Amino acid sequence: MIDIREILLPNIPDDKEREEISKITEILISGIRRILSRDGIEATPVLVGSTAKHTNLKNADIDIFMVFDRKYTERQMESIGLRIGHEVLPDGTERYAEHPYVSGHINGRKIDIVPCFKIEKNTKIISSVDRTPLHTEYVLTHLDEKRRNDVLALKLFMKSIGVYGSEIRVQGFSGYVCELLVINFGSFQKVLEKFSSQKGQLIIPETTALAAKYSSPVIIEDPTDSSRNAAAAISMENYSIMKIESRLFLHSPSQSFFMKPDQEKPLPYVERGTCARIIILPRPDLVDDVIYSQAQRAKKILVEHIVNLGFHYIDSDIYVGDRIEIIIETEAAQLPAVKKHIGPPVDTPNSMAFIMKWKDVKSIRGPYVCDDRICVDAPSGIRDIDTAISSALSSASIGKNLDRVKGEARIIDPSGSNASYMVLGKFYSRRIRL
Ligand code: UTP
Ligand code: MN
Repeated sequence: MIDIREILLPNIPDDKEREEISKITEILISGIRRILSRDGIEATPVLVGSTAKHTNLKNADIDIFMVFDRKYTERQMESIGLRIGHEVLPDGTERYAEHPYVSGHINGRKIDIVPCFKIEKNTKIISSVDRTPLHTEYVLTHLDEKRRNDVLALKLFMKSIGVYGSEIRVQGFSGYVCELLVINFGSFQKVLEKFSSQKGQLIIPETTALAAKYSSPVIIEDPTDSSRNAAAAISMENYSIMKIESRLFLHSPSQSFFMKPDQEKPLPYVERGTCARIIILPRPDLVDDVIYSQAQRAKKILVEHIVNLGFHYIDSDIYVGDRIEIIIETEAAQLPAVKKHIGPPVDTPNSMAFIMKWKDVKSIRGPYVCDDRICVDAPSGIRDIDTAISSALSSASIGKNLDRVKGEARIIDPSGSNASYMVLGKFYSRRIRL
């Protein structure tokens, strides 16, 4: 057996860090309060996020929200919020979730200063961040002290297997979802038991109404707002990873399930008898969430395009940093000259249409009968992967902002070169934790 407390010890704040967090928080809250009263603004600074809920791992960020009276317009709230954010965080930069906010650092620790509107439970919100103070209150009143370690262990486990975080780059479990899971199932162990044995969707509370309302793999009704699925960000893949890793951990618990994931690093191509191409695009100057969702969509469109042409697809991945790298791996770089089209069964009326369509096309074999179906061998159109990818890039839209830079796209064959790529590092390290 492994001792969770022992594993947590080096990963949770010690007294010194706790003291530092409360000192920074005090300075920020009193600083914001001073500015608010100086400028006569009706808003209240509140500490939210994991440091307020006592569910913060080592070096967690500090989330401070400024809760504005509803008499302000959204634009006033945003512009006042940003101005104050910059005033208290000299190195602050503007970020954008649903609203702009300021993110900066104090003593190397990340600080977010986020403006929001004051709301009551289950009342209409203007932005989803308006609920965050209610989340803090809910967790503080429903997660008892002895269950905090269970949340911390769950967060550490999820970080280790790569499914922690609700941002688009990860599409995983948010801190709030971890807290709701422990509140609902009772402990770290019980949460893992649930995931390891769960088939299909996970729905909390388990009602048919919720199942009908959402299609996400995980549905957790937000206790502070019954109209919202708190688990909406979680992808099918991350949910599946969580199920498998829970099973593996319960089968043979070990410390490795709580270790930091390997740092992403560039790697050179490794020949494995397949075909790989890396598409490199310049990064438009936009926030990660926007770039990620567009890069993901671009990857999906490219893959669909080459699969439709007949390439046998193996896998693909994306990396977003200073530039965008998309890797696509197929079995081979060339398609055969002939493609067999399997038509409808001879029993169906469609078989006639199929015959009429193909009967006069030159340089093909058929139409002919193959068991109960009508078939034809036709010449392949595009036959090589580079042409396939460049035709996809020029004919399909790969997203509003990426379309503007796709003229600068480079399609690279990484074989036969020692050059390293971040996306290859990511591609080769794709493996579940054992
Ligand atoms: P954080 O992402 O900082 O989460 O969002 P956290 O709970 O503080 O966890 P860590 O320790 O930093 O990783 C701050 C708050 O914003 C709300 C939550 O209420 C959270 O407490 N939030 C964030 C959401 O409601 N949904 C999200 O997807 C992300
Ligand atoms: Mn936080």
